[in-house]
Amino acid sequence: MHKPMVIGHRGAAGEAPENTMASFALALRQGAQAIELDVHITKDGEIVVCHDGTLNRTTNGSGHICEHNWQALQQLDAGSWFSEEFTGERIPLLSEVFDLVPRGMLINVEVKHAYKGRMEQALIAFLRAANRYEDVVVSSFDHKVIKRLKKAEPKIQVGLLYNANLIDHPGYAKKMGVDICSLHPHHQCMEPRDIAAAVAAGLQVYPYTVNELIDYQRLIEAGVSGIITDFPGRLSTYLNK
Ligand code: G3P
Ligand code: MG
Repeated sequence: MHKPMVIGHRGAAGEAPENTMASFALALRQGAQAIELDVHITKDGEIVVCHDGTLNRTTNGSGHICEHNWQALQQLDAGSWFSEEFTGERIPLLSEVFDLVPRGMLINVEVKHAYKGRMEQALIAFLRAANRYEDVVVSSFDHKVIKRLKKAEPKIQVGLLYNANLIDHPGYAKKMGVDICSLHPHHQCMEPRDIAAAVAAGLQVYPYTVNELIDYQRLIEAGVSGIITDFPGRLSTYLNK
């Protein structure tokens, strides 16, 4: 059986509070070969890992991340909303996740907002300092951010996130005018022939967010490069059965 890469969505978001260190550690223990996470920027310029731009859903705080300094965010509980056993989890810095994930393992950093160019600047500085370009792919639904990022630092690998059944998936990537490493479509958006065409064009294909066995099977048969899932343990077991 073709074995796509197991990519833990927000860590192992089905079984731990998304985008926390506990979630990433669980994904690693469950056999994920890559992790996906979402980033925002704080008032004082730190890159933090959180899906929403606001604190209300996944922490005991409120308001926008970009209106708080990192020190204030560090006081918040980002685990107990999910389950009491995760009380005390914090919003991680991107650097903390990089320290946890072994070198050679892929980290998919999803940029949620441009913050008027501040996010790109911060991310380029971060990735230059980390010097782990081959371990990282930066994706976004904002394809202009992706294009600017790639132009500013060609060493950064970039991918396109989208939720549309495009007429020509690899053709769209080519039209970007910069080298695109991967396509990250919603898993219902690509038909098997689209996946085959993208792979043949040299693109990695990482559909999101896939949690059902029937969808794993369909995408494996179609030859995707990786599968983004809330349950990396479930997908690992399925691939190894
Ligand atoms: O990167 C794949 C997926 O995470 C995109 O959607 O809303 O879960 O960040 P979302
Ligand atoms: Mg995401």
